[in-house]
Amino acid sequence: MKAIGCLHPFPATDLDSLQDVERTIPHPQLRDLLVRVSAVSVNPVDTKIRRSQSTGQNETVPRVLGWDAAGVVESVGPSVSLFRVGDEVYYSGSLSRPGANSEYHLVDERLVAKKPASINMAQAAALPLTAITAYEALFDRLGISPQGESGGAGILIIGGAGGVGSLAIQLAKIAKLYVIATASRHESQTWCRKMGADAVIDHTQSIPDQLKQVHRPIVEYIFNTSQTDQHWQAMCEAIKPQGRICGIVDTTKPVNLNALKRKSATFVWEFMFTRSMYETDDMIEQHHLLTKISKWIDERKIQSTLTETLSPINAANLRSAHAKLESGKMIGKFVLTGWPT
Ligand SMILES: NC(=O)c1ccc[n+]([C@@H]2O[C@H](COP(=O)([O-])OP(=O)(O)OC[C@H]3O[C@@H](n4cnc5c(N)ncnc54)[C@H](OP(=O)(O)O)[C@@H]3O)[C@@H](O)[C@H]2O)c1
Repeated sequence: MKAIGCLHPFPATDLDSLQDVERTIPHPQLRDLLVRVSAVSVNPVDTKIRRSQSTGQNETVPRVLGWDAAGVVESVGPSVSLFRVGDEVYYSGSLSRPGANSEYHLVDERLVAKKPASINMAQAAALPLTAITAYEALFDRLGISPQGESGGAGILIIGGAGGVGSLAIQLAKIAKLYVIATASRHESQTWCRKMGADAVIDHTQSIPDQLKQVHRPIVEYIFNTSQTDQHWQAMCEAIKPQGRICGIVDTTKPVNLNALKRKSATFVWEFMFTRSMYETDDMIEQHHLLTKISKWIDERKIQSTLTETLSPINAANLRSAHAKLESGKMIGKFVLTGWPT
């Protein structure tokens, strides 16, 4: 089968950074689904892993990346109970296993859900990783009620137009929060409003000053989808006493946790691969979560965040997608669809 592999930490512009490779079709074991992949999306995790590939002499097998896919179940392992051959599915998968940039891909059924019926494969592939991240951040880590019981409270979403931010804005509106998103360009600001943001401010300017201008000087919740340390001081100023902040990006330098003590404010991490990486007892929650996202998509409560598509799925197009993400200017999601014939 066709696949795209990565062996060296080369820039995305280098023709050898991502290569077309051939692999044997794997066999599903236990709760595995073998999925015939129709479309894949690209996330910053792909570019980060590409850049951190070992250059060691012993590394000879390219690693297959890709943790966002939509496709059709081709065959199932002996313990599978949630899906049947022919089901159209979407999922992110596990960082501990090969990624989905291959014609066929194995994934544990507990991480998978039926694709929303009302959208196509490319639109579906845009969703899983960012939807899981935004859902877990808002509803599991920040403790916001998806039923609207936290309604009226304010949430600041830093990096509102990116893949994660675009879903976070929409989910926060389902929870009836007042959403202030950040974006620095006209087109990313327009996109945040399209996703449902009530107010948009610019993360290249003072966040506390702009919050005062939109009459929400402090907020109950902050979800930072961007640099944790860069925005730390602003978040400590903007969080309401007893409020909660969630981060998803590693700090590059120490942050002063004491700054939150006087306010009894909480800082919590979200890592969407935790459940699959540690095979936690509640790993199946990602199946339930993506099933709920499918329902909300089909009920038109949320929309796909797909903005750019390239076809076919090959190394050249994947290099373009990596380069676009690495520009830091992505709005919504970039998807590759269909295999070369
Ligand atoms: N922990 C986890 O589970 C998890 C899951 C998913 C992603 N992540 C990480 O979260 C980060 C965001 O992921 P993503 O998929 O949303 O990325 P993305 O789609 O590439 O994000 C692009 C957006 O980031 C905004 N941005 C750029 N620099 C910024 C800054 N200094 N402050 C605020 N916003 C900034 C840009 O807005 P403007 O153009 O308007 O400036 C752009 O729209 C990545 O580092 C990714 O690795 C972590």
